[in-house]
Amino acid sequence: MKPWDGRFSEKTREIVDKFNASINFDKRLYKEDIDGSIAHCKMLIKQNIISKEDGEKIINGLKQILDEIENGKFNFKEELEDIHMNIESRLLEIIGDVGGKLHTARSRNDQVNLDIRLYVKKVCKIMINNLIDLVETFNKKAEENIDAIMPGFTHLQQAQPILFSHHFLAYCEMFKRDIARFESLYNRMDECPLGAGALAGTTFPIDRHFAAKTLGFEKPTNNSIDTVADRDFIVEFISNSSIFMSHLSKLSEELILWSTSQFNFIEISDGFCTGSSIMPQKKNPDIPELIRGKTGRVYGNLMSILTTLKALPLAYNKDLQEDKEPLFDTVDTVVNSAKITIDLINELKIKKDEMFKWANKGFSTATEIADYLANKNIPFRIAHKVTGQIVKYCLEKGKDLDQLTIDEYKSFSESFENDIFSFIKVEEAVNRRKSFGGTSKENVINLITDNKKYIEKKRKEQ
Ligand code: ARG
Repeated sequence: MKPWDGRFSEKTREIVDKFNASINFDKRLYKEDIDGSIAHCKMLIKQNIISKEDGEKIINGLKQILDEIENGKFNFKEELEDIHMNIESRLLEIIGDVGGKLHTARSRNDQVNLDIRLYVKKVCKIMINNLIDLVETFNKKAEENIDAIMPGFTHLQQAQPILFSHHFLAYCEMFKRDIARFESLYNRMDECPLGAGALAGTTFPIDRHFAAKTLGFEKPTNNSIDTVADRDFIVEFISNSSIFMSHLSKLSEELILWSTSQFNFIEISDGFCTGSSIMPQKKNPDIPELIRGKTGRVYGNLMSILTTLKALPLAYNKDLQEDKEPLFDTVDTVVNSAKITIDLINELKIKKDEMFKWANKGFSTATEIADYLANKNIPFRIAHKVTGQIVKYCLEKGKDLDQLTIDEYKSFSESFENDIFSFIKVEEAVNRRKSFGGTSKENVINLITDNKKYIEKKRKEQ
């Protein structure tokens, strides 16, 4: 039996039932659907649109259905298309015709919008919490390894020495921006669609503010047409998720590189790696590789939802049913990627000595020499040129910058004194970078302290 049977003389084709059905994936929204129905029913009672007695029967029926679903006793039927009709049909089975009063002043169009909004609000909170954990994990690793110095890179070429903790705190900044993006989405979408009806509102004397409050929304939406057509919050969720995955993907790339025997900066613990069926020596960084790979599917989901929405006439169109699979797939991917990264980073071994060895190589302190000369009132561009000549000389002689004699230095510029040797020590190079946001230990310790306060504040807000 379909709710619209009255208008139809033929049965829906079987292949159409299958094609039309969303129950296989939207059953995930059962809790939101029941919560929404209970709130709607309470509003109908309060406004005397249905009697208290009928309303209570409906609410009890809905609670029983929730119980059945949660205990695996509910029989989902494809011919009933979606989660909304599966639940409504079961309600009619349990309490009889009176169950049909629940859909007064409501349409599946505002109902489905409500369900996904409640769901996205919930997953925004889950993501915010995971991201706070990520900030904490990276901040902790940074603090534990505060003395580790590594080469910093640009173009993946050795650039300047930095604190490993400074590098890790860069990820904290990315995650903090991710948190702000999910928070801002949460606040923007915190409007209740219930009462928009099919598209035009309803003739019944409903109280949308009451329904909104009951469901924990800030307020009801303003325009019924926009409401049933709006999926911006899904686009934003997947877009925020895509940016987040780009951060994890960059991290993954670095973890993969750093764990090679060529870099040898870190060791990923065995629990996150696999071996090879043929090469006994192998330990492969599968998890970072998979996270890097899964970034692609989240970007794909973003393209998918944007394309679904493109050029849709207002208001509801069945195309919108295609919003759910990219959303759910994104949620599963980002939540799991976040959780697994937290564990992987917690267990990550930092090879301080190896990092340090490389921080010293590759003329990483050449900028120090240029800065040294600039401090002696030599214009930086000239200082840069002179330093370039010194590097060229070192390359020819097969020497490092700290292996030249003072006379060799002086042959390039009279301004060089003996203090050049301490000036180009990597520790000093790092710690002199006291400019706000730079890599000096002092700065990094301050940022670690600020991050701790940030984490505490965010945890309280949740
Ligand atoms: N399963 C549908 C969806 O996901 C629910 C809304 C159906 N509304 C309609 N007018 N056919 O979008």
